[in-house]
Amino acid sequence: MKVGFRMNLFSLFQELKSKIADRSALVTTVGLGYVGLPLALTVHEEGFPVLGFDLNESRVTRINAGEQVISYFAKDRIAKAVASGRFSATSDSARLAEADIITICVPTPLSDEREPDLSYVLRAAEEIANWLRPGQLIVLESTVWPGCTATKLRPILERSGLKAGRDFFMGFSPEREDPGNDKFNTKSIPKVVGADDEHSLQLLQQFYSAVVDKTVPVSSTATAEAVKLVENTFRNVNIALANEFKRALSAMNVDVWEAIDAAATKPFGFMPFYPGPGVGGDCIPVSPVYLSWRARDVGSEMPIVDLSRNTNEDAPCTMAARLIALLKDRGVNAASAKVLLLGITYKRDVEDTRESPALALLNQLELQGIGAVDYHDPYFPVMPVTRDHPHLAGRKSVPLDSAALSMYDLAVVTTDHDVVDYEAVARDSRLIVDTRNVFKKKKLAVSGNKLVKL
Ligand SMILES: NC(=O)c1ccc[n+]([C@@H]2O[C@H](COP(=O)([O-])OP(=O)(O)OC[C@H]3O[C@@H](n4cnc5c(N)ncnc54)[C@H](O)[C@@H]3O)[C@@H](O)[C@H]2O)c1
Repeated sequence: MKVGFRMNLFSLFQELKSKIADRSALVTTVGLGYVGLPLALTVHEEGFPVLGFDLNESRVTRINAGEQVISYFAKDRIAKAVASGRFSATSDSARLAEADIITICVPTPLSDEREPDLSYVLRAAEEIANWLRPGQLIVLESTVWPGCTATKLRPILERSGLKAGRDFFMGFSPEREDPGNDKFNTKSIPKVVGADDEHSLQLLQQFYSAVVDKTVPVSSTATAEAVKLVENTFRNVNIALANEFKRALSAMNVDVWEAIDAAATKPFGFMPFYPGPGVGGDCIPVSPVYLSWRARDVGSEMPIVDLSRNTNEDAPCTMAARLIALLKDRGVNAASAKVLLLGITYKRDVEDTRESPALALLNQLELQGIGAVDYHDPYFPVMPVTRDHPHLAGRKSVPLDSAALSMYDLAVVTTDHDVVDYEAVARDSRLIVDTRNVFKKKKLAVSGNKLVKL
């Protein structure tokens, strides 16, 4: 956009400030996925007009039709927002010019070489730059490495001829959305905000304080970017440690979950993390790669982070080998064995299979020679196309009835969805491996020695 007349920074700042104060600022969220959509809805519910932007036209159509699109949302949440006349979505990038505030929530996955893939962020930046106008506040929320906003996003936006901190405002605020978490939501999770100039930071704080219960300002965009990677990497390392506890303690005939829960009664210095079949989702397995990649880039190394990453990535492969050994112990030959996986999503009660360890386990069981591997998952009657395991697409979830359950040599709880009938699993399965400790959590007794924790 050509700038014929340049308003001074102070007037632009005051103008946006008062639009935030009276909630007339139009907010556009770029990317209406698991993170962008809850954010856009929360912003709307706090009184701002919202125009969501997503390249996926069918998602835009469904949102504008008021469909539920994310299963753990209240059924009428989107419909209510749309009916208000102050919430809509578009795929028309020209409408980005209308926004006063633009938040970017596009994916930041790994490339085929398992390195940071910023292509979605760069594309979003280009779309915004084409329509950038003085006085807009642009906030990146996608998980990126420290320095990205300043060295990747900013130069693209400035191709417009406008300068950050002089003609428009810019910052970073990491998303901390935890899909399916019924205790914490977008509004109640404190929001870290960082900017590289004082006016941008003030506007970020004012805007997010109007939307969420608490904001946490930090001194730069790079610090705010680092916060997210520190949080997720901390989790990744601790999950690897929990899995290591599990292997060692099982060999000592100690129940690792019982030990961790008892350790968690210490009121300081300990935080519980639990073992499982591996880590999944768009965040926890990905953030350590962004951090460690950037560390190498600046001449540093993160051996603990790299080790835990490898441990977690190898977990499904190790688990497959242990399941095969268990079957052999019970007199079942791998080639003739039938195994049922309960759950293919990366976490319970969420319809998201990104980086799911359950899919990696399914794949590994087949690679390591199990005769037949099926799955049951109420969220996916049909296996979707996934990035890492596209060849599994189209398979069907088997029904969870008594006849089906008794047909399998082994049922493995890979994802502890609440809606699964674990009583039926306990009653009718021949052998069960519970990687999530769900039977204990639900206080379900399993007769004989058919429940194994691996
Ligand atoms: N899913 C989580 O639990 C979670 C939690 C915290 C942070 N994050 C981070 O949030 C970011 C977004 O993740 P997500 O889970 O919401 O992704 P998602 O895949 O659910 O949604 C991304 C959306 O962005 C759209 N999109 C992609 N490129 C676009 C573009 N250039 N312009 C407009 N729309 C575009 C896609 O069509 C999709 O609807 C990532 O950086 C992720 O690491 C995710």
